[in-house]
Amino acid sequence: MKKRREFLEQLSEVEHEMLKVTGGLDMEMADQMRENVIGITKIPLGLAENFRINGKEILIPIATEERSVITQASTGAGLVDNFEASTTGNIMIGQIQLLDIPDMEKAKKAVLAEKEALLVDANTLSRSRKAVDLTVKALDSAVGSMLIVQIYADVRDSMGANLVDSMCELLAPTIAKITGGRVNMRILSNLATKRMVRVSATVPKERIGADVVDKIITADAFAWADPYRASTSNKGIMNGIIGLLLATSNDIRAVEAGAHSYAAITGTYRPLTKWTKTENGDLYGELEMPMSVGTVGGVVRTHKLAGIVLRLLGAETAAELSMIAGSVGLASNLGALYIMVTEGIKSIQA
Ligand code: MEV
Repeated sequence: MKKRREFLEQLSEVEHEMLKVTGGLDMEMADQMRENVIGITKIPLGLAENFRINGKEILIPIATEERSVITQASTGAGLVDNFEASTTGNIMIGQIQLLDIPDMEKAKKAVLAEKEALLVDANTLSRSRKAVDLTVKALDSAVGSMLIVQIYADVRDSMGANLVDSMCELLAPTIAKITGGRVNMRILSNLATKRMVRVSATVPKERIGADVVDKIITADAFAWADPYRASTSNKGIMNGIIGLLLATSNDIRAVEAGAHSYAAITGTYRPLTKWTKTENGDLYGELEMPMSVGTVGGVVRTHKLAGIVLRLLGAETAAELSMIAGSVGLASNLGALYIMVTEGIKSIQA
């Protein structure tokens, strides 16, 4: 494959060798990264083709142990001319849980009255990444009422968990004093609804046939009507996303948790994509989900493979990586649906 050769030609000899032999991670680095290291696991890294995202052609490295994941993503991408992708920004949410609040309404007002001062405090932690808002909510729970204070921080190109956790821990004692309550929890939320990616794509009906357009819409309706099918549909979406994020050393568990909790945000578990027909009979797909990824900080820059993959993707910012990931998700879903309503999934798994 010409593109694959061109892609690999962008690597130095050392990088090329590293990719094939150590996967970009040796024991010494692994030992520095994590506790109690006894070895390194490896999984195949492949390239998904046919992607044009916001007008730019991109080859997508995907790390996966599963046969057909790369084919599903490439097949879906090959059916559309362009993925239109956007993000809502890089705001992550942190939560502080307070108990034994003597007067809930008074406590809520008192925290909001101190909002500016609390944000100033939180913003002593980083020069460039800033807390931008703070909200309060009372919850009734199995152990009685509790006050939850939420901090919203613009974490820019980092994943942001460390910073947000630190902000929560820093502000908690002051908030306890203001409210007269007792702090229990101080932690990031992975339901990153202020860090969403949105992607849309159109498949011309001439490309797949009007009957296949209808079959895909019917398959999608099944997923919207049945959580058992929605679960599998979302698994297919995450096949590509997780493969890409693994290759860039992102926290895949955070993205997975955000995806599934967003899928259930209405109280019913739903698909992360929606397929409809345009006025002229083309197939139109949309994906919307939280995407808490980083291109700086954490292990993203210490793991050599992640650095190489980000460079080859041309993704310098979290927003760029997020839009690529969302597009891979929509393509994976489309590819899987197309294959399932035509040849059947076993046709690509043999
Ligand atoms: C398999 O890894 C993924 C699929 O099950 C996705 C789907 O059913 O939509 C094929």
